[in-house]
Amino acid sequence: MQFFIDTADVSAIKQANEMGLVDGVTTNPSLIKKAGQDHEETIREIASFIDGPISVETLSEDAEGMLKEADEYINWGKNIVIKVVMTPEGMKVVKELSSRGIQTNVTVTFSAAQALIAAKAGATYVSPFVGRLDDIGHYGMELIEQMRAIFDNYGFSTKILVASVRNPIHLLDSALIGADVATVPPATLMQLFNHPLTDKGIAAFLNDAKQWKKGAKVG
Ligand code: E4P
Repeated sequence: MQFFIDTADVSAIKQANEMGLVDGVTTNPSLIKKAGQDHEETIREIASFIDGPISVETLSEDAEGMLKEADEYINWGKNIVIKVVMTPEGMKVVKELSSRGIQTNVTVTFSAAQALIAAKAGATYVSPFVGRLDDIGHYGMELIEQMRAIFDNYGFSTKILVASVRNPIHLLDSALIGADVATVPPATLMQLFNHPLTDKGIAAFLNDAKQWKKGAKVG
């Protein structure tokens, strides 16, 4: 499973990239607002050191406006993916961009029926929001299971990009189900490292090394 990082914070992306954990980046208008920098400058900076796909979200509500934005975004880096909302206008854009060989990511997706529509329109990625489903008392990962079954039944090449990931269990379940990608906020990515036995084991080794070094000096 590929790991994308779900942020527009350039230093957080650099940090995760140094550990070899960034196969791609996803952004959205809220993440751009949170990063507090100019949209184009931010994406261009990310694209200067990330080779993988970078999702950039369109803001227009009509297909014509979205296509204009897409034409602009694709010049911001070598591997820009056009992020489009799950609407009838959005699917017109996916169909058009897909025919031009431009990658797309269908976002704010909450049902298997919506995922099927995105796949039929020719989306490169579809992003189901598991955390937001959990928030309203639905079982988000059930959607990933349904999508995997449907895409496999018909051999769709559209990739399942698990989004709105809130904890390590979301990531682990995504890998067990066979999702293609999970996009993870930096803090959740760091949580994946945590295990009390790892901390305990490292502390014991360091302690033994201190004793051993002391002994070696004396001897
Ligand atoms: C990614 O493509 C989505 O925009 C993002 O994962 C949404 O996450 P949130 O529900 O935590 O805002």
